Amino acid sequence: MMGVVSEGRPIVDLTDDEARRALVLKWGTVDPDVLPAWVAEMDYALDPVVAAAVTDLVTAGGAGYPTDDGSVGAAYTGFAARHLGWQLPADSSVVVGDVIGGIRLALDVWAEPGPVVVHAPAYPPFFDVIPLTGRERVDLPLDPDADAAAMDLDELDQAFAAGARVLLLCNPHNPWGRVFTRAELEGVRDVVTAHGGQVIADEIHGPLTLPGATFTAYQSLAGTAEHAVTVTSPSKAFNVAGLHCAHLVSTSERTLARLREVPLVRNHAYSPLGIAAAVTAYTHGDPWLASLVERLDQQRSLLRELLDERLPKARMRPLEATFLAWVDLRGYGYDDPAAVALERGRVMLGSGHDYHPGLAGHARINIATSPDRLIAIVTRLAAALTGR
Ligand SMILES: Cc1ncc(COP(=O)(O)O)c(C=O)c1O
Repeated sequence: MMGVVSEGRPIVDLTDDEARRALVLKWGTVDPDVLPAWVAEMDYALDPVVAAAVTDLVTAGGAGYPTDDGSVGAAYTGFAARHLGWQLPADSSVVVGDVIGGIRLALDVWAEPGPVVVHAPAYPPFFDVIPLTGRERVDLPLDPDADAAAMDLDELDQAFAAGARVLLLCNPHNPWGRVFTRAELEGVRDVVTAHGGQVIADEIHGPLTLPGATFTAYQSLAGTAEHAVTVTSPSKAFNVAGLHCAHLVSTSERTLARLREVPLVRNHAYSPLGIAAAVTAYTHGDPWLASLVERLDQQRSLLRELLDERLPKARMRPLEATFLAWVDLRGYGYDDPAAVALERGRVMLGSGHDYHPGLAGHARINIATSPDRLIAIVTRLAAALTGR
C-alpha cells in the first residue's frame, strides 16, 4: 500500500492485488486485465480507526444480533452539525440495513400510496425500488443538452398535479454530481407542500461535498419535518457498504414512531459491525474524511485535465460532490461508450443506459482511485473511442 501524505490521516491507495481482495464486486467480477471504474467503491484502504473498531469488535466476539441502541443516531447528530450544517436532536435516526432498504421501508410504511417521482439519470436501484413497492414510477429526465443539471420545478409541479405523491430526491445527486442549492431545495419544498406531497431524501453523498459547493440537508429547511424522511449511511464516504448500516433520519415524532413500530422482521438487516463502523466513522472519522475530500478534489481536477487533453469532445458535468463523474461522450458517436471502452480499452465504466435508459453516448466514471490509475482509465478510454 502506498500512502499519500496530507494533513490528518492520509489516504492509502490499495495495490491491484489488495483491491482485488478487498473489493470483490468492483475488482473481482471483471477480467484481470480490466481496470474497474464502475460501481461506487473507492480503491483506498479503510480509515484505520474505523477498521480497528470493527476488528476489535470481531476479536471480542461481537458477531451476534445487533440492536439499534441509539448510538448511530447520537453519533450522526454530532457529524451532521460539524459537516452538514444540520442541527438535529440525538434520537432522530432509525437504523436500517442499507439505503435502498431504508427507502423501501419508508415507501412501504410511511409514504402515502401513489406514484413516486424520480429524476433521471438516477442511481439505477431507484428505478427498481419504486415498482418493488407496488407503486408507479414517474421519471423526470434531465435534458442532456441543458447547460446546468437542475431540477425543473414546473415539471415537478405538473407531476404532483397529475397525482404523484412522493419525490425520491437524491441530494447530492448521483450521477448528476450536483449539490442542490438551498434555493433549489426551497423550490422543491414549496412545490411538494402545495400538493401535500412527501419527500424521501437520499443524502448518502452529503459528506462527499467537494470544495466550492455547500451542502444543504433537505430537512434542515423550515417546513419539511412532517413531509420528509432522509436516508443516509457512512457507506459511501467511508467505503463500508458491505458492513450494512444505514439510517433513516426524521425530526418528526410521528414519523419516528411509525418507523420504529414496524415488526423486527420488517427491518432486521443491519449488522453490529456496521453499527460499530458507523459510530466510529461519525465520531472519529473527521481527519480521514478531510484527507479523502482533498484527494477527490485533486482527482476531479485531474479528470478534467485528462478529458480536455485526450477527449476534447467529452462534456463533463461539474462534479460538485461524489466521486462519480457523469460524462457526455456523444461527440464520439457511440450509443454505449462504456461497452466500447470495455471491449477495446479494457476499462469498465458505468454505462449511461443503466442510469438513464435509452440515453445514448453517456458514461459514469469512478475517480476514487490513484492518480496513476485515473490516467490509465482515461488513456484507455480515449484509445477505445478515438483509435489513438
Ligand atoms: C445515491 C445512492 N444511494 C444509495 C446507494 C447505496 O447505498 P448502500 O448500499 O451503501 O446503502 C448508493 C450507492 O452507490 C448511491 O449512490
